[in-house]
Amino acid sequence: MPTELSLRPAAPGARAGRPAVAVLTLTSLAVAAFAVLPYLTSSLDTLARDDVGLAAGYAGAPPLVLAAFYVHVVAGGLALVCAPLQLWAGLRRGRPRVHRWVGRTYVVAVAVGGTSGLVLAPVNQAGLVGALGFGALAVLWLWTTWRGYRAVRAHDVGAHRDWMTRSFALTYAGVTLRLWTTGLVAAQALVLGDAVSPDAAFDRAYALVPFLSWVPNLVVAELVVRRRRRARERPGAVGHPPR
Ligand code: HEM
Repeated sequence: MPTELSLRPAAPGARAGRPAVAVLTLTSLAVAAFAVLPYLTSSLDTLARDDVGLAAGYAGAPPLVLAAFYVHVVAGGLALVCAPLQLWAGLRRGRPRVHRWVGRTYVVAVAVGGTSGLVLAPVNQAGLVGALGFGALAVLWLWTTWRGYRAVRAHDVGAHRDWMTRSFALTYAGVTLRLWTTGLVAAQALVLGDAVSPDAAFDRAYALVPFLSWVPNLVVAELVVRRRRRARERPGAVGHPPR
């Protein structure tokens, strides 16, 4: 049966947005694979010995923290696989059932990933700034996703898109955290050379990413939401009430 989502014509500019959606999809899938798979295919002790990711900080952690860590890594990876699929307008319109089921999986993945992220935030490896930054990210991730889910249950498709745009911007912190960390470490090596050890460069970069990984993403999402709202409210736009 056709639904409101499947009947909506392509928004003006939807085609122009395809390269951006492709980049978001490829980077999300790449991070979901490269950041998550090592934890599912090797023990933490082995990864810690090879200095992979944050394994050294979690090898030997208490069982609750270890459980939260693994649950978080799997749920975060799942959210990162689901989220970009929802951005493809063709899938939303042509296969609304797929959109709905991927969306439900996403909401559950965020609920689990955000709750376990909240457990990890106080014991994170950036200290107080990490507890505040990752903690705020987890709360906003859960809240925006919940609002997006509630909006679509209330058949408010416009609000659903807006809240899910914010939610995806926060999910994408899983990608931007790694891009910022790598970029900041490389920049220090370039500018300071041997004057800074790789460990010190990582610690400095990691002190910034608890906020840097998501605040700019949320600003971009807010700009996208406002631009879309202005387009929706333009007289004669699809869905604009006749005056
Ligand atoms: C957006 C909300 C998220 C929050 C609040 C969050 C929170 C956290 C926290 C607190 C840690 C521990 C950091 C530390 O010990 O210093 C962590 C680690 C991790 N998270 Fe997330 N996270 C989020 C999203 C994601 C996503 C979308 C992924 C998908 C890839 C992900 C995958 C991981 C992985 C693989 C680690 C282990 C660290 C590493 O080796 O890179 N997280 N997360």
